[in-house]
Amino acid sequence: MGPRTSFATADLDQVDRYKLLTGLVVPRPIGWIGTADPDGRPNLAPYSFFQAVASNPPTVLFSAGVFNGHEKDSLVNARTSGEFTCNLVDGATAKAMNASSAELDRGESEFDFAGLTPDSSIDIAAPRVAEAKASLECRVTQIIGIGEPPTTNAVVFGEVVRFHVADAVLDGTRIDFDALDAIGRLAGDGYATTRDRFDLRRPTVD
Ligand SMILES: Cc1cc2nc3c(=O)[nH]c(=O)nc-3n(C[C@H](O)[C@H](O)[C@H](O)COP(=O)(O)O)c2cc1C
Repeated sequence: MGPRTSFATADLDQVDRYKLLTGLVVPRPIGWIGTADPDGRPNLAPYSFFQAVASNPPTVLFSAGVFNGHEKDSLVNARTSGEFTCNLVDGATAKAMNASSAELDRGESEFDFAGLTPDSSIDIAAPRVAEAKASLECRVTQIIGIGEPPTTNAVVFGEVVRFHVADAVLDGTRIDFDALDAIGRLAGDGYATTRDRFDLRRPTVD
C-alpha cells in the first residue's frame, strides 16, 4: 500500500478532524429531516450524520452539530415534539435537498425556500416531503450528547413507526434500487449515486 500518514486526533484541529472523518466514512446516506415547531410550522434539513441502526424496533438516528451552544431547528423541534420524518433523497430531489440546507431563521420554511411540498404524516404531526420516493415517520426515543463545547453534537434516535414508499420503487417489501436512485454524500460538495452496484454471496461454513 506504500507509505501511510497517521494522525493523532489530539494533534488535529476541528476542521481537519471533520475533513478526515467525513472524507473517509463514505458514502453516507442522507436523512432529509422533517419536523414541526410548536406552532405547527414545517421545517426541513438534510443530515448525512444519519443511519439506520436497528430493525427491531426499526430505529434511525441523525446527529446535529451544536456550535457554541447554537442548536439547529431540526434538533429543537425533534426534542420539543418528540417526532421527525426522514425522507430519502434521490437524483431528482438532490438539488432541492441542497437548497433546503440553507440556514433560514427559526420558523421560516425550507419547503417554501426549496420549492417542495409538505405532505402530512399519518401517525405523527411532522411533515413529509411529497417529492421524496420514501419517507419514514419516527418517534424520538433518546437524544444523546457527544463532545465538549464549543463543538458538540446531539444524536437523535427515532423509532420508525410508519414507512411510506412509492409503489414504483416497491416489489412487495423489496426495494428496486434503480427506481429508488438514492444518493449518498461524500465530503464537502461531493455526492455519489447508487447506480454502479455489484453482488457478493455470503460465505457458508459446512
Ligand atoms: C448533504 C448535507 C448533509 C448535512 N449533514 C449534516 C449533519 O449531519 N449534521 C448537521 O448538523 N448539519 C448537516 N448539514 C447542514 C444542515 O443541513 C444545515 O445546517 C441546516 O441549515 C440545518 O437546518 P435546521 O436548523 O432547519 O435543522 C448538512 C448539509 C447538507 C447539504
